[in-house]
Amino acid sequence: MCGIFAYCSYLCEKDRRHICEVLCNGLARLEYRGYDSAGIGIDGDSPDSPTILFKQVGKVASLRKLISQHASDADQSSNEAAASDAKEATNVGIVDMGKTFITQTSMAHTRWATHGQPSPLNCHPHTSDKTNEFSLVHNGIITNYKEIKLVLEKRGYTFHTDTDTEAVAVLCKYIYDSQPNKRLNFTDLIKAVIKELEGSFAFVFKSQHFPDEIVAARRGSPLLVGVKTDRKLKVDFVDVELPTADTTEKLSNDTENGGLLTVPGGNAEPKLRRSQSRAFLSEDGLPQPIEFFVASDASAVIEHTKRVLYLEDDDIAHISEGELHIHRLRKDDGLSSVRAIETLEIELAEIMKGQFDHFMQKEIYEQPESVVNTMRGRINFDSRTVTLGGLKAYLPVIRRCRRLLFVACGTSYHSCIAVRPVFEELTEIPVAVELASDFLDRKTPVFRDDVAIFVSQSGETADTILAMRYCLERGALCLGVVNTVGSTLSRESHAGIHINAGPEIGVASTKAYTSQYVALVMMALQLSDDSISKEERRQQIIDGLHEIPAQIKGVLMMDKALQQLAKETLAKEKSLLIMGRGYQFATCLEGALKIKEVSYMHSEGILAGELKHGPLALIDEHLPVIFIMTQDSLYPKVQSALAQVTARKGQPIIICNDDDTTISEQYRTIRVPLTVDCLQGLINVLPLQLLSYHLAIMNGVDVDFPRNLAKSVTVE
Ligand code: AGP
Repeated sequence: MCGIFAYCSYLCEKDRRHICEVLCNGLARLEYRGYDSAGIGIDGDSPDSPTILFKQVGKVASLRKLISQHASDADQSSNEAAASDAKEATNVGIVDMGKTFITQTSMAHTRWATHGQPSPLNCHPHTSDKTNEFSLVHNGIITNYKEIKLVLEKRGYTFHTDTDTEAVAVLCKYIYDSQPNKRLNFTDLIKAVIKELEGSFAFVFKSQHFPDEIVAARRGSPLLVGVKTDRKLKVDFVDVELPTADTTEKLSNDTENGGLLTVPGGNAEPKLRRSQSRAFLSEDGLPQPIEFFVASDASAVIEHTKRVLYLEDDDIAHISEGELHIHRLRKDDGLSSVRAIETLEIELAEIMKGQFDHFMQKEIYEQPESVVNTMRGRINFDSRTVTLGGLKAYLPVIRRCRRLLFVACGTSYHSCIAVRPVFEELTEIPVAVELASDFLDRKTPVFRDDVAIFVSQSGETADTILAMRYCLERGALCLGVVNTVGSTLSRESHAGIHINAGPEIGVASTKAYTSQYVALVMMALQLSDDSISKEERRQQIIDGLHEIPAQIKGVLMMDKALQQLAKETLAKEKSLLIMGRGYQFATCLEGALKIKEVSYMHSEGILAGELKHGPLALIDEHLPVIFIMTQDSLYPKVQSALAQVTARKGQPIIICNDDDTTISEQYRTIRVPLTVDCLQGLINVLPLQLLSYHLAIMNGVDVDFPRNLAKSVTVE
């Protein structure tokens, strides 16, 4: 997944240095979405001079360095370094950073490579040609880019990168060149381009032919627009402008390409019903200063404004002359005719590291508060009642369903595994837990009397979204359990729960896991509150939830000891097994994922009941094994698995309860407080989160940006 950011200022004088700073800061906020290379595109010295591009592999800091080397006031050594830069890193020599603009549009991108190695050449913005007639940044995958490239190459267009995105840039130029007269406006041109594309995308387009304008479009990847102005907006929404008819016709009827590539009719004046963006009308009718920030998510916008508008799939946003217009690709497709300008509830501090060294560390330590925020306003600990407002209207339907189908990926999948037993126990409804990608591969049968629950921190994971759409098409009730407000999953599901864990920036999910876990337990509690026989058990669980924040705080105080344990027993190891069963199987899976994704040490979560069916062959005095052996009904079975391991000279590290006296002194223990069996995983996962963090640091890993990964995988 990649990060997109664009900055448009209208009647606000800004110099190039400020513009580059805004762009780089925006990228830095999005860096967790992908960080193998980054680039920006800014206005040239005059309206018809080429867009200036800076592109660099590595993180945003490398891009900042490249830009500073090309600044007109840079010192001599920087200028020499700039002169030696590979040509594709930038299309300019030295740039006057003091030049000011009354109105400008600019764009930026941080990349997680899907097509083409990380390199300055493959870095966005991509352009249509050497003079940058069209440039764009893209998040997603264009699945038919090869066909488009083939057709364009046959028409004499050339390509210079390995990316799918470049095909779209050249397609812009082709459609612009091919129109019978140059009367296409920017929006209609981009509509014609998008009509040819298959796959997922979020784009921002810029063009020499349309100075001081940008067009943004999305399908399957998130995009929002922040609005910053000193004056109060006339209304808190933007009208959607629908085409009155299809304004495109086939460019060619040649069978060779099956009529691929269409451009709008040459003479037909597009009959757009243009309802003025009332939001930006000024009292006196005079143009007003305003700034727009287009971004993949709110973290890049919050430092500028809290007023944001979320684009829907197939929205086309056009920013020009201080106004934002929203267009649709098709006529009436059932979506609302306005897009609300909402107010963000996150604070800048929430997306800053504060006194912590890394976001992952900060988010581990936030868990006492984040689980409280998940429960806030939903659990009354005095009356021992649970109220999830978002589900209230659907409770009867869910209680009568034939099957509860949980679908997720990675850590979110583990949170579903963690709550499967308590859902089965409290609701007595069959439960299936599916990995989204496999669920889709199998074309799993889904029916109208299924209830599908999609769990996702980002709400933008492609596999999970596609699984939800698969279930929506088959008539199942689809619920979302997400952390990111305004995300695709939260907007397209019938109903759901926001876990309210606050922004999670670290690629390795930590507080989202525990908040998802708590949110799902609350769902099971609410679904069973009509059952007298479950009342005592429900009260036990609710009382247990009340103690969890303090217990989490207690475990976090073991951090130093866990750091020492990691150093003494695990730091040099190549592999690690984590064993448990029942409620703790999810903990094993999640702990193993944390270890492997941030420390790069191989780690495997194993169901203790499976030990003798194969994994026992791995056991000897060298291989480190962590046993999760906290008190619950399966304790004796885990004890026998432990005996099998120690009989083969295994040297286990045992996560057990504070008061457990059965553990032999010869084995290292990690002692944690006891809670209700179905909640114990909330406590037991913490030492594993901390161990993975410390192992990563010892291994010299950039914890918040582990190699090859991204925070949310918005491509299949
Ligand atoms: C977990 O640490 C990883 N970041 C990854 O497994 C993640 O949980 C998975 O990609 C699902 O993301 P989501 O919750 O945003 O859908």
